[in-house]
Amino acid sequence: MPSQPVAPSRMVHVACIMDGNGRWANRRNLPRTEGHTEGEENLARLVRVAVKRNVGWLTVFGFSTENWVRPRGEVRHILGLHKKLFGRVAELNELNVRIQWMGRPFDSPEARTPKYVQRAIRKAIRDTAGNTGMVLTVAFDYGSHAELVHAAQRAAQQGPVDEAAIERNLYLPELPRVDVLVRTSGELRISNFMLWQSAGSEVYFTEKPWPEFDAAELDAALLLVR
Ligand code: IPE
Ligand code: IPE
Ligand code: MG
Repeated sequence: MPSQPVAPSRMVHVACIMDGNGRWANRRNLPRTEGHTEGEENLARLVRVAVKRNVGWLTVFGFSTENWVRPRGEVRHILGLHKKLFGRVAELNELNVRIQWMGRPFDSPEARTPKYVQRAIRKAIRDTAGNTGMVLTVAFDYGSHAELVHAAQRAAQQGPVDEAAIERNLYLPELPRVDVLVRTSGELRISNFMLWQSAGSEVYFTEKPWPEFDAAELDAALLLVR
């Protein structure tokens, strides 16, 4: 038996709820912010592994519509990390990865993404638009309920609201269905992440906190779908 998954027959979509940064830091007597910093570094490492494993679509939950109530300093730190993440254009280009974002549209009244993060997001999307390899989608200021309300409202303006109409009006209609949904750090919850897109997906729960979600973990998740 090969120790790694064999070449895929089709492009797999892995979606990760990146949880447990705070606990990772607590266990080391570090501030929670250090956990988020390490979580962002780990995402950069995991992108590399996912490309090697021929993953087609990697979607990650970076910040939810519910996360804005966290302490202001923690939120500010996480915002800075998203600016850093979307600034990794050279790495993404080297890996032929195209980056995308999904969340409450910047021009909607409820949107909370600050301007400087919006700029980083727009620039990264533009500067990686020509890449043809893995698609990395970062969910930021994202909540599935907000997405489905948005989709339903738009669908209703277009005609009869059926499943196809909802799908056409999701934030990123071109995202394929999720094949495997991952959640780290031992929580057995979905927390308002891609409820529509993961209706039929496998789920992989692990005790490991996000900063420790490594190649072996990704392989274990991929085994569920390959
Ligand atoms: C995930 O780690 C990152 C975000 C939700 C932004 P947490 O910050 O939720 O870490 P725990 O769950 O407190 O350990
Ligand atoms: C889910 O993690 C959101 C992200 C990973 C961005 P949370 O830590 O916010 O989820 P709950 O509150 O424990 O459900
Ligand atoms: Mg958490």
